[in-house]
Amino acid sequence: MQNKQIVLNSRPAGMPTTENFRIEDVEIPQPKDGEVLVRTLYLSVDPYMRGRMNDRKSYIAPFALNEVIVGGGVAEVVESRDENFRAGDIVTGMLGWRLYSVAKASELRKIDPKLAPVTTALGVLGVTGLTAYFGLIDICNPQAGETVVVSGAAGAVGMTVCQLAKIRGCRVVGIAGSDEKNSYLTNELNVDTTINYKTEKVREALAAACPNGVDVYFDNVGGEISDAVLLLINKGARISICGQISMYNLERLDVGLRPQPLLLINSATMKGFILTDYAPRFAEAITQLSKWLAEGKLKYAENIIEGFENTPRAFLGLFAGENLGKQLVKVAEDSRQ
Ligand SMILES: NC(=O)c1ccc[n+]([C@@H]2O[C@H](COP(=O)([O-])OP(=O)(O)OC[C@H]3O[C@@H](n4cnc5c(N)ncnc54)[C@H](OP(=O)(O)O)[C@@H]3O)[C@@H](O)[C@H]2O)c1
Repeated sequence: MQNKQIVLNSRPAGMPTTENFRIEDVEIPQPKDGEVLVRTLYLSVDPYMRGRMNDRKSYIAPFALNEVIVGGGVAEVVESRDENFRAGDIVTGMLGWRLYSVAKASELRKIDPKLAPVTTALGVLGVTGLTAYFGLIDICNPQAGETVVVSGAAGAVGMTVCQLAKIRGCRVVGIAGSDEKNSYLTNELNVDTTINYKTEKVREALAAACPNGVDVYFDNVGGEISDAVLLLINKGARISICGQISMYNLERLDVGLRPQPLLLINSATMKGFILTDYAPRFAEAITQLSKWLAEGKLKYAENIIEGFENTPRAFLGLFAGENLGKQLVKVAEDSRQ
């Protein structure tokens, strides 16, 4: 057995490149009491990881230079020194970008591969689904007949939000960066109208798509797209600030529309959130999302790149819009296959 890890080689200035990462050969660690040795099967790459590559205060500590990158993963237990796990169990948790890792048993969650494909633990039944659920249902409480606009609509969180809004009986307008993505949203997910922000004039297209204004805006991207949406909000609008991916690689803060007057005259609410704020309610949301998935009311798409060494490339692809749905890296087959 050979182990490898990917470390942060240098901090990105602006858009990250593969040079910011380095692959190293390392020893396979030995688990101690209360720990588990796992073999990585899938790694999740997520936009928020870009923020951790800056040496800046945020809601989570920065990655250290020359240290392993850490993110969500699914793995198979190889050796357990904890009574709750045994070899062959499939688990999820925050793992290093490593082929083999030692993790604290208390920080892993066992998943049942018979209930749903194991990759869903990183997507629709994991961070992605939970983010969509709380960001939309809890913050925006959309009502039947309302107009819901979703930016980053064909990404992992966005496509789940679109479907949850449809379940609530809303009219959904999705904004994404390609015609292929928008076709998926309308044909597969019943999104009512879509806008390709790369080829259309977003302000005009939004005004045409939202003749009755915007009641709910789920913001994954920020920047000029969000400015355009905010100009159309209705009285009592709710705006959920989930992500600002268009700004993650900016080297200087971008000052755009100042939304306070619009919020004021419309008695509107804008709320940012970090998923972990909702940790005590994760079980409730997973139960509901699993039910919708089993009933066929909720679909998901995955973009899976094969090969551990391609993990940085998969991460970079998020900023080029290469993914439809959840971006994952397949590192290894599990031993059942
Ligand atoms: N608040 C939380 O706790 C929380 C939790 C999870 C995720 N998030 C945030 O939610 C957002 C979506 O995350 P995700 O995991 O579902 O990623 P994702 O949407 O699956 O992937 C990122 C997508 O963003 C779009 N994008 C990239 N650069 C852009 C730009 N400059 N302008 C507009 N769109 C751009 C691309 O799609 P196009 O082809 O459409 O450009 C890309 O496919 C991110 O902002 C993320 O940080 C927040």
